[in-house]
Amino acid sequence: MKFKVFDSYEELSAYSAELVAGVIREKEDAVLGLATGSTPIGLYEELIKLYDDKNLDFSKVKSINLDEYIGLDGTHNQSYRYFMNLNLFNHINIDKKNTHVPNGVAENLEQSVAEYDELIDSMGGIDVQILGIGPNGHIGFNEPAEQLKLNTHVAELTKETIKANARFFASESDVPTQAVTMGMGPIMKAKKVILIASGENKAWAVKSLVDDVITTSIPATLLKLHPDVTVLLDKKAASQLEV
Ligand code: GLP
Repeated sequence: MKFKVFDSYEELSAYSAELVAGVIREKEDAVLGLATGSTPIGLYEELIKLYDDKNLDFSKVKSINLDEYIGLDGTHNQSYRYFMNLNLFNHINIDKKNTHVPNGVAENLEQSVAEYDELIDSMGGIDVQILGIGPNGHIGFNEPAEQLKLNTHVAELTKETIKANARFFASESDVPTQAVTMGMGPIMKAKKVILIASGENKAWAVKSLVDDVITTSIPATLLKLHPDVTVLLDKKAASQLEV
């Protein structure tokens, strides 16, 4: 794992966008594994700038998102499909047919979840996976547990995650309690992983990435087994590291 600490969120965002742009410039039909949450918004803004400046072409790029709330369809303003359209896809020349977010309102969830893994395989896997991190160390919606799931699955959100995400909803009781999430398998198989974290509330989870422990009770620690992970932090997220 490589760590890089930035003075500001803006610098972190610009750097992470350059890393993603590098992957696309090397492979025009790259498969991007994308994340939601507030952290990657700056990265997406920087990618839009690169596109606007004619420095990046998304016409052949494909994307696959980590997760989606169950019960919210793509028109709901807190669904992750809506988030991706709003914060990235509507502003670049990606073909929306090449963008994929799990279906949170599928009639047959079991089938839809299994198809998501087949889809990832049919795309040839993920070239670069963007990850945020939950304050409890979750990635996607792979929550701390005794066992983690390999494949895409329906996850029960922890109380802590519901609380953390309540800021986007009218009230905590409006936050869905379940989500479809990619499992640890496709994340660990991604050729490259970029984890970004900003803010004091991530400092504990970030510290767990440098300790000499791997535990399913902090899912992000499994990334220590991945050969190409870059962790980009602002000063507050890095505040518990002894560098
Ligand atoms: C959500 C998402 C994660 C994200 C995390 C952190 O629960 N499922 O993919 O990394 O929250 O979000 P934020 O960046 O808003 O702190």
